Amino acid sequence: MSKIICRCEEVTEEEILQAIRDGATTVDEVKKFTRAGMGLCQGRTCRKAVERMIANELKEDVSEIKTSSYRAPVRPIKMKVL
Ligand code: FES
Repeated sequence: MSKIICRCEEVTEEEILQAIRDGATTVDEVKKFTRAGMGLCQGRTCRKAVERMIANELKEDVSEIKTSSYRAPVRPIKMKVL
């Protein structure tokens, strides 16, 4: 059984590794292949793990891996706040 890396979208380690084997070289590309990072936390929990996995698979330093853009987490707010 493969570990869950993105718990918001229930994306497993194996799915991310497969995306990298299929050609994903950036966090955004892994996101497009798997939806990892598209959940409620917007990648705050899984982004660094995905970066490390890409770096590991491509035998590069993690600082060389292009990260995705940061967005605020989506949270419901009351209409009167708007
Ligand atoms: S854990 Fe991946 S988007 Fe939240």
